[in-house]
Amino acid sequence: MNQPESMQMEQSGSPAWWRRSVVYQVYIRSFADGNGDGTGDLAGLRARLDHLAELGIDAIWVNPWYPSPMADGGYDVVDHRAIHLDFGTLAEADALISETHERGMRFLIDVVPNHTSVEHPWFQAALAAGSGSPERQRYIFRAGRGPGGDEPPTNWQAVFGGSAWTRVDDGEWYLHIFDISQPDLNWQHPEVRDEFDSILRFWVDRDVDGFRVDVAHGMVKDRSFPDAPVDLLDDRGQRLPDGSHPHWDRDELHQLIRRWRAVLDEYDNRMMVAEANVHPDRLPLYLRPGEYHQSFNFDLLKAKWSADDFRSIIVGSAARAAAIGAVSTWVLSNHDIVRHATRYGLPPGIDYERWLLDGPHDVLDAEAGARRARAAVMVTLALPGSTYIYQGDELGLPEVWDLPVEVLEDPTWERSKHTVKGRDGCRVPIPWAKHGSSFGFGEGPSWLPQPPIFGDLSVEAQKGDPASTLNLYRSAIRLRGDLFVADEELDMLDLGVDILAFRRGSGATVVVNMGSTPLPADDLPPGEIVLSSGPTIGTKLPPDAAVWLAPES
Ligand code: NOJ
Repeated sequence: MNQPESMQMEQSGSPAWWRRSVVYQVYIRSFADGNGDGTGDLAGLRARLDHLAELGIDAIWVNPWYPSPMADGGYDVVDHRAIHLDFGTLAEADALISETHERGMRFLIDVVPNHTSVEHPWFQAALAAGSGSPERQRYIFRAGRGPGGDEPPTNWQAVFGGSAWTRVDDGEWYLHIFDISQPDLNWQHPEVRDEFDSILRFWVDRDVDGFRVDVAHGMVKDRSFPDAPVDLLDDRGQRLPDGSHPHWDRDELHQLIRRWRAVLDEYDNRMMVAEANVHPDRLPLYLRPGEYHQSFNFDLLKAKWSADDFRSIIVGSAARAAAIGAVSTWVLSNHDIVRHATRYGLPPGIDYERWLLDGPHDVLDAEAGARRARAAVMVTLALPGSTYIYQGDELGLPEVWDLPVEVLEDPTWERSKHTVKGRDGCRVPIPWAKHGSSFGFGEGPSWLPQPPIFGDLSVEAQKGDPASTLNLYRSAIRLRGDLFVADEELDMLDLGVDILAFRRGSGATVVVNMGSTPLPADDLPPGEIVLSSGPTIGTKLPPDAAVWLAPES
């Protein structure tokens, strides 16, 4: 089932760009505020492009930047062909794309096909036109069950809490697998299919290099509308290995993927990456010839700080990808999960959502978390495939777990009836300067408050310090090009249960001490230490530290 070589290689003979890229995720609302209104924007991003170029990344992925009431951070889109007024204009987007290209980086955007905002003109038309109208056919409206149709059509649950169905004034119910403000589109409708082909073309014609496809395992629903098995009501699509869930990961959606891929293949060198939260055995289906170029691999988001966990995820992911001629992707953090510098400072096995809400917060060892986060990125940057970095990872930002509940904006906070605090703590605006009302994020306060520690973690505070996390990232990304991207070979090494170690095709090795006792230097593989995640104690590799060793010439 290997993909044809031509689909994976560039003319130069090196692997296609998306197989070996460092992709930097920009959560636009929190990256940099150019106009002083407290919200990040395109002007802010344009002004900071040199930071990204100096970091050495290959591509930027920008989270949704479309007009939106921001009920779900912009994943509730009103117009797929425009830019949110708070973020800027289409002309600024054009300039941003070309300025990114001038600096040798690619540009990816988010596309959100599973649902729109309730404020999308199509949904407004559906509400106005009423039951049975063609306008309603673009979404999923149904009569309710029980006397008077008062019960939702199925037992399906919304990801952010509560029923996945909401009733409108005339008595019908509409489906929203996420928030009440995000009605699901009906992908059986030809207009919906055509519309998204046209949206993809609109942006590729504006020269974006590809798309991150939101909820890539959603879209298709079982049109007989059965109840979901009760034990799968809180499933987000990961538990079933056979495509039998009524609304996640259904086989029919692969036709849609093929259709989008055909659109991208009309152009050169464009790519699409799937956010498909599916059972590991199902993920390869999304990467078949004619489908996605790559898919996020979220397994490391669930890993404990344990050599065993990391090893089995790396080996499993690499093998599954290789079996279909693809490469894996590596993700430590994103805008949907507690930042890894905090996750790795918490006791193993802790439930992050509960911890955010109830603590106990004194179990957090922030220093261990920071050390481990530095070591972890030396793993992901050294593996074959693409590595995704979430903005602020390069500064070692922790989760802001103590945001006051009054400032929370994640819909999950209200929908869960204040039992899940949500994702705002990983979306706090980036500190650029040591001082100032928003640490250089903008001229005034930022839309979410930043903690005082952000000054010392700012770009300004770190850029001149050779031992900073920022400079570790810069060095690692530069060295990665020399040591790790020419081929996709990977051999795991056995240096003991608590030591994660592997060798790449160049002969370079990576060793991470995930245990609690130092590793004697004599136990390291041969080679010259070219990068270290922290100071080495004498000749030993301390716990929570990683090194890269280049082959001796
Ligand atoms: C996945 C996105 O990453 C998340 O932020 C969003 O809430 C959901 N999809 C719904 O669009």
